[in-house]
Amino acid sequence: MIDFLMNHWCKRWLRRYGIKLASGPLALRKGGRLIMEEGVSISTVKMEFDSLRVGAMTYMRSAVELLNVGYIGRFCSIGTGVVIGQDRAGHPLDWVSSHPFQHAAAGLEYEGGRRAAEIGHDVWIGRDAMILEGVNVGTGAVIASRAMVTRDVPPYAIVAGMPARIIRYRHSPSIIADLIASEWWEGSVMDLQRRPLNRPEAFIQQCRSEPVARAAYRTVSVSRSGWSELAGEHHKESC
Ligand SMILES: CC(C)(COP(=O)(O)OP(=O)(O)OC[C@H]1O[C@@H](n2cnc3c(N)ncnc32)[C@H](O)[C@@H]1OP(=O)(O)O)[C@@H](O)C(=O)NCCC(=O)NCCS
Repeated sequence: MIDFLMNHWCKRWLRRYGIKLASGPLALRKGGRLIMEEGVSISTVKMEFDSLRVGAMTYMRSAVELLNVGYIGRFCSIGTGVVIGQDRAGHPLDWVSSHPFQHAAAGLEYEGGRRAAEIGHDVWIGRDAMILEGVNVGTGAVIASRAMVTRDVPPYAIVAGMPARIIRYRHSPSIIADLIASEWWEGSVMDLQRRPLNRPEAFIQQCRSEPVARAAYRTVSVSRSGWSELAGEHHKESC
């Protein structure tokens, strides 16, 4: 009953920030921390990370698995069944066996973990794609449905297949450079929506004469033991 009420209170409190966390705080692991900016929407997902920061307006559909992942930028679209931060070296490959029976029996310790995966801003991840731990997905990238991403993805690349390979880039090199320089994801949704979003050249031109103003997205921190607004917090510049 207490659990039900905790989930309910937290979810209701998050709504003040336009945030949806369908699974509630009790779906986090013990000691796990989820930091979210305004407008984040997370459906029923599995959460196994130690600490994850999710940028404003990013949404995830159901059955997503957030494993060894530390950062997801703003304005990302994450499809059903996506796995981010899958471990790649959870078992020893160069011991007698790869089975964990060895750890306890011989008092050995196996350190297999790699660094957490990181996803930039404006990344679209298609249904059932898998991104391994340690991978850095650049801002503006697209991960095709069912792709298996084992290596870093450059900004604005579209990758597909198993293992994922670049099939093309979303824009020309000069437009990519200008979009990254514009740091448009710093802006408020209201400011962005009155700009020519369907014409990147015109958008960039406008950003030169009228740079996107840094919006103050409110940020909250959620764990199993409590939740609060974070004052003066800011996300990473770019991936
Ligand atoms: C990757 C994607 C965005 C298409 O990008 P695109 O640049 O327009 O790609 P195209 O359709 O022109 O295909 C280009 C090549 O990539 C291949 N390709 C496209 N999607 C692929 C996929 N998911 N896996 C493997 N290969 C794929 C095509 O077969 C084609 O190969 P070819 O050149 O040998 O014929 C799209 O296929 C996709 O996966 N979208 C995600 C959809 C989704 O999951 N939606 C729900 C979540 S919101």
